[in-house]
Amino acid sequence: MKRIGVLTSGGAAPGMNPCIRAIVRYGVSQALEIIGIRRGYCGIMEENFINLDLRSVANIIQRGGTFLETGRCEEMKTDEGIRKACRILQRKGIEGLITIGGDGTFRGAVALAEAGNIKVVGIPGTIDNDVYGTDYSIGFDTAVNTALVAIDKIRDTCQSLQRPFFVEVMGRSRGFIALEVGIAGGAGEILIPESETHIDQLCLNIKESFDRGKRCTIVVVAEGDEAGGALQVARQVGEKLNLDYRICVLGHIQRGGCPTARDRVLASKLGAAAVDALINSMSCYMVGELKGNIALTPLRETWQKSNELDSNLLRLVKVLAG
Ligand code: F6P
Repeated sequence: MKRIGVLTSGGAAPGMNPCIRAIVRYGVSQALEIIGIRRGYCGIMEENFINLDLRSVANIIQRGGTFLETGRCEEMKTDEGIRKACRILQRKGIEGLITIGGDGTFRGAVALAEAGNIKVVGIPGTIDNDVYGTDYSIGFDTAVNTALVAIDKIRDTCQSLQRPFFVEVMGRSRGFIALEVGIAGGAGEILIPESETHIDQLCLNIKESFDRGKRCTIVVVAEGDEAGGALQVARQVGEKLNLDYRICVLGHIQRGGCPTARDRVLASKLGAAAVDALINSMSCYMVGELKGNIALTPLRETWQKSNELDSNLLRLVKVLAG
């Protein structure tokens, strides 16, 4: 293999830049030529390619987002689009492709590998951490820390007036961010899609906590929780308990900012491992990290199976809430 491509696709995640840097620098050390593809799969269709050398990835290790940009490419959802992408990659002499993103990104990669003569390897890059085959995806740690900084600040004002705060965090249909930041931020309650939400019980818990003398109750609500977002939950609780409340939807700030050290290290390890996988002629695998070791998982499994949430952590919330 002489020439490989790299793209980032779907929602950007902090750590994608250090990952691209690792792919380029490790790839060059292995005598590979690296082609950056801008705007995800759209960049293949538009032939939006850029040659990447050691210097092209200088000073990006600390930057959030992805300097290759991402895209959501409708054309890639059609057979004709896939064939077109394969033709372009072949003409460009790209024999291997590393795709950084979540399940949508990986589905596109598998479609390319099945339709054309190209080897594909995926790297999990999403703040949601909802990818099977890795303990952590790139961006998760940064997103949690960003949300934590916000929650710590909310706590300052929450403490001053006795009213509950409902803080909504991202995570798509999973509660990984909510659980992690809820524990780290000392949340009184954490509402996640993986466990049933009973509004009456929530109200009772909040009331009892005030009766115990608690002044500050922070309820972390995962955006995918069945009860709706923070707004719906807060309205119901406010009405039932007849109390004043505040809502904060953290939103896309969780997807930006400098990647944490943990995300940069993970990104660097997975970037190099993905290059090794292509050199070893592996295709349709995702490189992840399980218990500190690099692990290869068939790409299909990454969206067909799902990671379990740590139920011990969830149980702990109730005890630690005080
Ligand atoms: O997958 C990352 C993510 O930020 C999710 O947490 C969120 O549900 C979604 O993307 C938001 O997507 P968009 O940026 O298209 O609104």
